Amino acid sequence: MSQQGPAFDVNAMTLTRWVLAQQRTAPSATGDLSQLLNSIQTAVKAIQTAVRKAGIAKLHGISGDTNVQGEQVKKLDVLSNDLFINMLKSSFTTALLVSEENDRVIQVETERRGKYVVCFDPLDGSSNIDCLVSVGSIFSIYKKKSPGAEAVEADALQPGHDLIAAGYALYGSATMLVISLGKGKGVNGFLYDPSLGEFILTDPNMRIPEKGNIFSINEGYAAEWEPGLLKYIEDKKRPKTGKAYGARYVGSMVADVHRTIKYGGIFMYPATKSAPNGKLRLLYECNPMAFIVTEAGGLATNGKIPVLDIQPTSIHQRAPCFLGSKQDVQELLTYLK
Ligand code: AHM
Ligand code: MG
Repeated sequence: MSQQGPAFDVNAMTLTRWVLAQQRTAPSATGDLSQLLNSIQTAVKAIQTAVRKAGIAKLHGISGDTNVQGEQVKKLDVLSNDLFINMLKSSFTTALLVSEENDRVIQVETERRGKYVVCFDPLDGSSNIDCLVSVGSIFSIYKKKSPGAEAVEADALQPGHDLIAAGYALYGSATMLVISLGKGKGVNGFLYDPSLGEFILTDPNMRIPEKGNIFSINEGYAAEWEPGLLKYIEDKKRPKTGKAYGARYVGSMVADVHRTIKYGGIFMYPATKSAPNGKLRLLYECNPMAFIVTEAGGLATNGKIPVLDIQPTSIHQRAPCFLGSKQDVQELLTYLK
């Protein structure tokens, strides 16, 4: 009798299992980072359920204020923010939180305080939420540097190269969580298996191609670009030799960056005349993505220095961001000089 191949992976590397395995490789680890990552995993699972409108009765009336039961309904971005904050606080591992949705830093209560600082964008790609195009969550994790139990705002103003970990969740045609613990430990991608309710390691050691053939930028603002960038894009469209680059722009950073890591190429959110620092936020958009792309073998720059070298001065500051395949970013830099 012929044996059928296993329909079921009976030894799946779940995210929880992977996090524990990582902890084992650091003998001095307290388990706090594992607990923190697991709390983010829970937030992401809940957000992905909400994004997919799986709890449709509860989410109906998503743009209004009440659902069919007449209950108050939270908009997806508010709900995502509450999930991140509640899960992170109750992990007992964080001291300070920075969210795109909150003007000021969030101090964690004394009794729930830990040693980590987390900056996050709970639901990025706001313009894509209502039309069901991919959105994502982005997070970065620092260790608190100031003495004493209480954290201060400066603990969140560390340059990206001091990150302990960063990651993003993409709510696309499937949900994927991508995490890097830095220090050459690489980038790992976990696909959500709804039948198990678990993230499974499907993309171990993700590497971005050295060079791609896609550029990703909002060309609507071309009239406000610096001449070097204009020339670069022009040359990608009308190359003297070889094939033109393809253009792709979802308008959700997580989706555009994830594609760039998988297929190669370059993602750009430049400075414009009216927005001299671009649009993307350094702490919870540029830095975590730059950290991951760099760990995957790519480059990330603000046009002058590596994104990860920028010394932040305020929690919601913006920075121009160009990231992707090494050769593509290097080539762009020759135009920006
Ligand atoms: P948001 O935080 O309001 O969602 O804005 C961030 C998003 C990014 O995901 C995306 O890369 C960018 O805005 C797109 O902006 P634009 O519409 O100007 O091209
Ligand atoms: Mg955002």
